[in-house]
Amino acid sequence: MNEQPGASAPHDDLHPETVAVHAGRPPREPDGPMSTPVHLASTFHAGGPNAYGRYGNPSWTAFEEALGALEGGECVAFASGMGAISAVLALVPTGGTVVAPRHSYTGTMGLLDDLVATRDVTVRYIDVRDAGSVADAAQGADLVWVESPTNPALEVADLDAIGRAAREAGALFAVDNTFATPLLQRPLEAGADLVVHSATKSISGHSDVIMGAVIARDGALRDRIVARRSLNGAIPGALDAFLALRGLRTLPVRLERAQSTARELAARFAGHPALDEVRYPGFGSIISIVVAGGADAAERVAAATQVWVHSTSLGGVESQLERRRRWAAEADTIPDGLVRLSVGLEHVDDLARDLEQALERAGDPGDAVAAGPTSPVAPAASGH
Ligand SMILES: Cc1ncc(COP(=O)(O)O)c(C=O)c1O
Repeated sequence: MNEQPGASAPHDDLHPETVAVHAGRPPREPDGPMSTPVHLASTFHAGGPNAYGRYGNPSWTAFEEALGALEGGECVAFASGMGAISAVLALVPTGGTVVAPRHSYTGTMGLLDDLVATRDVTVRYIDVRDAGSVADAAQGADLVWVESPTNPALEVADLDAIGRAAREAGALFAVDNTFATPLLQRPLEAGADLVVHSATKSISGHSDVIMGAVIARDGALRDRIVARRSLNGAIPGALDAFLALRGLRTLPVRLERAQSTARELAARFAGHPALDEVRYPGFGSIISIVVAGGADAAERVAAATQVWVHSTSLGGVESQLERRRRWAAEADTIPDGLVRLSVGLEHVDDLARDLEQALERAGDPGDAVAAGPTSPVAPAASGH
């Protein structure tokens, strides 16, 4: 067998681009497959670590090894980002206290509301940009939950400062790293105990998989998360894990291109007369623009693009956009005219020209629009 950075080899001395390509591969042996196959199996011959398809699957393990190596911790794959977040929030005891961002993914806010209503949990909402107020709020808390950058406000947290505060307060510290990815931000190095991803987004990267992951600081925490997954059954399909890992292999090049296009677009559209604001944290592939004229103008822009795809979700190779307040669950402190742009891999000039022509439609009330939180979705649905 060749020396190789495969399944059991350490990745400490390799760059993330190399780890993304090689981690989680089967051993290099004659006629062995280069990629872990899709293991369609509900059960396994007795005596091994997987035992049953709700406890383990080699296709999950390959994905977990690769994402765990990139984050620097122990990864547990889930059926969705929401499954992953639910498993972390389940660590909060009944009657406990959580510190959480006032702006974050609407599904997370829905889960927190549910904890308040059903498990007597107290949530202290904070502005993630204000590490001092997070330190105050962390006193006596069981869990400090941070999303950075936040969806869709794009607020950025000082994870080192918040990590110190959480540790001093004796609280668990968990970070939703979906927007930054492990290539731009490694929360475990900043003192986080747990990292969460919606692998549906940039990690899988092709808008064809729903999956999530939790990465734990150590084996003891990983075991608690695996126990939640095994009990609740929020397990990914083997094909989904295969596709997510295949997407992960190209994350570094996809992100590099998407980020450079996002930077360029943020610079080109700054000060545009049809926009009240362009928000870009300086890294990553997501931009939020605030269209002058509010909800109707923003809906007209979203409806008028031909290259950008009008759809919820983000992180795919296709550039996407949507007005976030079209979802009833979005925080009312998010501007009505805020349109989240997820920058994909198209040519920057095509994206710019398409957005420009759509912005010209912003002030044209003749255009038909499907505006407002009256979108044809169930009230509990929350956009992605
Ligand atoms: C930041 C963030 N976290 C978590 C989720 C939930 O992930 P999933 O849709 O895979 O359940 C999303 C979905 O949009 C998200 O944007």
